[in-house]
Amino acid sequence: MVVALGGGVVGDLAGFVAATFLRGITLVQVPTTVLSMVDSSVGGKTAVNLPAGKNLVGAFHPPILTLVDVGLISGLPIREVRAGWAEVIKTAAIFDPALFDELDTVPLVELQPDRMADILERTVRWKERVVHEDPRERGIRVVLNFGHTVGHAIEATTGYGTYLHGEAVAIGLVAASRLSVRAGFLDAGVAARIEDMLARTGLPTRYDPTFTNANAILDRTLTDKKVESNRVRWVLLRDIGQVVVTDELSADVIRDVVEALVRH
Ligand SMILES: NC(=O)c1ccc[n+]([C@@H]2O[C@H](COP(=O)([O-])OP(=O)(O)OC[C@H]3O[C@@H](n4cnc5c(N)ncnc54)[C@H](O)[C@@H]3O)[C@@H](O)[C@H]2O)c1
Ligand SMILES: [Zn+2]
Repeated sequence: MVVALGGGVVGDLAGFVAATFLRGITLVQVPTTVLSMVDSSVGGKTAVNLPAGKNLVGAFHPPILTLVDVGLISGLPIREVRAGWAEVIKTAAIFDPALFDELDTVPLVELQPDRMADILERTVRWKERVVHEDPRERGIRVVLNFGHTVGHAIEATTGYGTYLHGEAVAIGLVAASRLSVRAGFLDAGVAARIEDMLARTGLPTRYDPTFTNANAILDRTLTDKKVESNRVRWVLLRDIGQVVVTDELSADVIRDVVEALVRH
């Protein structure tokens, strides 16, 4: 068997090796970053990058076991810890009002291990549930993409070197929340709560114009892999815990929201 001990990069690479070596051998994930604990070590997606793009070669290969030890987080750089919390906030926003309320009451980066283990476990259970229902990402799993359409575009247009995945997702979560408001689905107060939570966790909520710009982000959004026949499927919110997927956002609204997210 292959045991992947590390963050998402190690997990994706080792997972891909396990998926392909001898047409597939047993995989165990031992994630060591917040992001890999709540996200990449569960769900079975494995991949490596090609010069032409990220994650272009891969396979679905679920681990037989994912073992999480939150004690490993104490050695993790604080920026990486924060980036992982972006996925926790995302998960709470799309699935779990009670968890979201709880996240609002504590400074996330200062959590004690027991409390952290509890929150990370509740987060990863949501992912597990969705993946169990839709292992190949043909349906409901798309909701995990909340915040990722603009997030991926920010990562890609900044060359994957400026923002960590979770940081780009944090800006993408602000974009998706504001789009939800502009589309008439979400109360502005809820969008503000999401944005405040991200900011309090020390995550960026605006992109830096030195590294990218609205035109580049908008162009890239249209080539996101979740695009179907040229329509972007936007994952938006009606409320905390209630997702709506739509391909009917006006280009002007999208442009407005993305332009407003530039850091001054
Ligand atoms: N397969 C999936 O479903 C999925 C989902 C989300 C993200 N990903 C992928 O995961 C990757 C990001 O994963 P990540 O955020 O874990 O980053 P990472 O794997 O790059 O790890 C971040 C950094 O922390 C270091 N590190 C890891 N664990 C540590 C520890 N316990 N103490 C000290 N340092 C430690 C690593 O060496 C690295 O420098 C991306 O490539 C992304 O595409 C995959
Ligand atoms: Zn993500």
